[in-house]
Amino acid sequence: MTNYRLPLLLAALLFNLLTAQARERKNFDASWRFMLADSAVMAQPDYNDSHWRLLDVPHDWAIEGDFSAGNPSGAGGGALPGGVGWYRKSFSLPLSLNGEGGRFFLEFDGVYMNSTVYVNGKEVGHRPYGYSSFEYDITPYVKEGDNVVAVRVDNSDQPNSRWYSGCGIYRHVWLTTTAPVHVKHWGTHVETELLTSIGLVYIEVELENPQGVKAQVENTLIDREGRVVGRSKGLRSRMKVSHPFGWSCEDPYTYKVRTQVKVGGKVVDEVETMTGFRRFRFDPETGFSLNGVSMKLNGVCEHHDFGCLGAALHEDALHRKLVKLKAMGVNAIRSSHNPPAPELLNMCDTMGFIVMDESFDMWRRKKTQNDYARFFDEWHERDLSDLILRDRNHPCILMWSIGNEVLEQWSNAEADTLTLEQANLILNAGHDASTLAKDGELSVQSLLTQHLAEIVRRYDTSRPITAGCNEASPNNHLFKSNAIDLIGFNYHHQWVKGVPRNFPGKPFIFSESVSALQTRGYYMMPSDSIYTAPVQWWLPYTDPSFMCSSYDNMHASWSSTHEELWDVVKHNDFVGGQFIWTGFDYIGEPTPYGFPARSSYFGIIDLAGFPKDVYYMYQSEWTREPMIHLFPHWNWLPGQTIDLWCYYNRADEVELFINGKSQGVHRKADSHQYHVMWRVQFEPGEIKAVSRKNGQVVKEQVIRTAGAPDHIRLSIDYQGKDLCFVNAEVVDAQGNLCPWAEDQIFFTTEGDAKVIATDNGCQTSMERFTSPRRKAFFGRCMAVVRGQGTVKAQAYNLGLTELSIQ
Ligand code: GAL
Repeated sequence: MTNYRLPLLLAALLFNLLTAQARERKNFDASWRFMLADSAVMAQPDYNDSHWRLLDVPHDWAIEGDFSAGNPSGAGGGALPGGVGWYRKSFSLPLSLNGEGGRFFLEFDGVYMNSTVYVNGKEVGHRPYGYSSFEYDITPYVKEGDNVVAVRVDNSDQPNSRWYSGCGIYRHVWLTTTAPVHVKHWGTHVETELLTSIGLVYIEVELENPQGVKAQVENTLIDREGRVVGRSKGLRSRMKVSHPFGWSCEDPYTYKVRTQVKVGGKVVDEVETMTGFRRFRFDPETGFSLNGVSMKLNGVCEHHDFGCLGAALHEDALHRKLVKLKAMGVNAIRSSHNPPAPELLNMCDTMGFIVMDESFDMWRRKKTQNDYARFFDEWHERDLSDLILRDRNHPCILMWSIGNEVLEQWSNAEADTLTLEQANLILNAGHDASTLAKDGELSVQSLLTQHLAEIVRRYDTSRPITAGCNEASPNNHLFKSNAIDLIGFNYHHQWVKGVPRNFPGKPFIFSESVSALQTRGYYMMPSDSIYTAPVQWWLPYTDPSFMCSSYDNMHASWSSTHEELWDVVKHNDFVGGQFIWTGFDYIGEPTPYGFPARSSYFGIIDLAGFPKDVYYMYQSEWTREPMIHLFPHWNWLPGQTIDLWCYYNRADEVELFINGKSQGVHRKADSHQYHVMWRVQFEPGEIKAVSRKNGQVVKEQVIRTAGAPDHIRLSIDYQGKDLCFVNAEVVDAQGNLCPWAEDQIFFTTEGDAKVIATDNGCQTSMERFTSPRRKAFFGRCMAVVRGQGTVKAQAYNLGLTELSIQ
């Protein structure tokens, strides 16, 4: 070898070392071994786990268990088990890449909770907060040949979450390989500005470049049709786009920024960031507007569980939820009270939901015995920073919430000695003026608020900061900090009139509202009486039915009916909107009852996904498609007095007929009325509601008295890529729903189909969610089926029904 070649060879070697191949991000969900037990040896690579259960994550072991009053989460947490579990997985890596200086990263979207990750027996990291996403650089821990990752998950100290948390690796896991020079994790920051006819894109890229090689960064902006509409270069750059498409709830037009890192002209890394152009404003007088158009945030709070599927993230289950909410007219979601799954944000970007991204349900002061307060001091900065870094590029997010009903709103508010249920109730009780901020002084609580807001602003200044506050006084320590840009009340609608005076110059929303109580299919009459449960937060509420009324006439003592609150939002221009507690029922918090109730009554849609009646009130107000909804059912005792309600829109009036006889025409008196009602005597047969506009029929609905249960009707509620949600209804020979049916339905399958969960929306059902049999509840239940094949449903005395799933 002649000498002149040596520098060239060295240069080539160095070039390879520094450039390796571009990034690869692979899903790492498949084939984990799982055991609900605990021993330090389970971290060791040579530990024999062959007898452990083989499964794919996302996984939630709690949802597979039995409900019990003795489970440490209590009814507030869903009365399902906790404990310590381990996951292990063997994998091999392309070590040639490592030979070239490549890096390996393991990314967990969410592990509930207290996870410790080991690679080849060495501890790589620990993360207490079960709602945070995190990534570890495992390069120093991997070796040639087989590698083993083991994850210890500890959710034994409960209660620790409001509400059901789930247990385990309940979100996706990713394995990423990169060249030594690469974009840092969450290392792109894309911000847009929408001016009248141009859009500006500001891009910042952070590189990991350990050897400090010369690297170029190039960005391309690509529209939804795949056309390149902008280019920029450098770590900080700007692009100008003429006439960009705006992002809105009706047309959520998204773009993507492709960022390439080049070394010596060769692409060594590439990442894509979704973005969109929108101009929004929260105005103290006129409320919320998007792209110059005034609108209300018609939002719902959503807890992260998927009913009978538990906390385990499944895109189909998530999409099904959002499709149902969209059809109701919902345009905004609050991730109450924790960082959501990344997939929720991706879907909100592309489906057109505005998001309030919430970080914490508590700060330093705990609300439940073992909650995040015990980690707050050490971890809040990391957890909050990570949330903003992970999520700030999403066009759907229009506000950050730094906390929900934190006890720091007051001085001396302690819930340490209370049970979960009591703590929740006390949160909604009034607090003495002596616990509020004093004029002219900034309390520790206010300073903490400022500190958290500063963390958010370190990474994002483009969105307002809010907090869910259930102390409506301007002397709430959080408000007093002046760090809250957007005033958010939880409940307290009686205080709304005072907002412009108490918070001059500040915009306002209901960060949380309503908390009405309903059991699908159950009706308490007279319907024009309002039932409050509990009457006061400190009084127990009992009713042997363990049910709440599905007329909009029942709510908790701190809250209101749906109609009452919507009226406040609708008729006060300065109110930017609301986030109703809640869209779907969720596991835990069975207010106003305790065990055996184990899931919520607050949802507009029940836990199984069946809409309650008030779903249609919102549809009548929030959507433009003509609709009508008459309720309740028509199976009562002869002569019984029944209140029939009807929600409708796009019409002047509705006429009700019982067995062909008119019961009169009703019209909503003004824009403050949301339903019409007839008080009638039951007689078997048929009721019909007909809505008319200018004398022309707009919509009709007929309900018939059902005879004896005859068969089960199966239908597809939602078909996703992998899961199919099948509804089962007990019907009479003519196909009328039997509204009182409680038949035990047995689901079986043929082919590759498998029933993985069932539900009926009943808050007190003690049947396991993973069981393939489920009682009908007010005539209905459902099954979640994975794979293709035939689903069969059978019940005592009811014939076999089949449904094929392709
Ligand atoms: C709020 C709280 C929610 C839920 C709701 C029930 O105080 O933020 O988590 O408990 O009350 O009404």
